[in-house]
Amino acid sequence: MSVRQVLRMGAPGLLEVSSSVTEFDSDALHQLVADMFDTMASYSGAGLAAPQIGVNQRVVIFGVEKNPRYPDIEEVPTTVLINPEIEFLSDETELGWEGCLSVPGMRGAVERCTHIRYRGYDEYGREIDRQVKGFHARVVQHEVDHLDGILYPMRIDDMSLFGFEKELFAESEQDQES
Ligand code: NI
Repeated sequence: MSVRQVLRMGAPGLLEVSSSVTEFDSDALHQLVADMFDTMASYSGAGLAAPQIGVNQRVVIFGVEKNPRYPDIEEVPTTVLINPEIEFLSDETELGWEGCLSVPGMRGAVERCTHIRYRGYDEYGREIDRQVKGFHARVVQHEVDHLDGILYPMRIDDMSLFGFEKELFAESEQDQES
């Protein structure tokens, strides 16, 4: 197990469409998942996709317990999701702040579907099939986008809602006070 370097926006590998996993419960897949968890933990991330550590396979992990990056956010079960498929269960979208370990120090507001079903497999090949809402749905949509070469800034409609974390949230605190 080891912490791997996270590719940052601009690295060509982040823009590729990743390949499906064809072999489950293999040493290579367990190693990849272990490295992803080590890497996500070391950066205090809420999720990580394999392409972010330079592996263009359809593997994502996510999970939010008590996370310093998201102090007020709802919990999301720790999950390994492979070859994911998303079905949108609502036409409703909501705007929410996102960050990404590949776009360090920044935040942007992205519209995401509020209610989705996602299916896929864990690293042992066991099926996962869940219907989720809110932040959980947002995290899954963000991570699965990485497998199709999409980074969240590419989904921002209003670029005035994109910037450095420190500046964005310093300003909002002032707004709340005034
Ligand atoms: Ni990301």
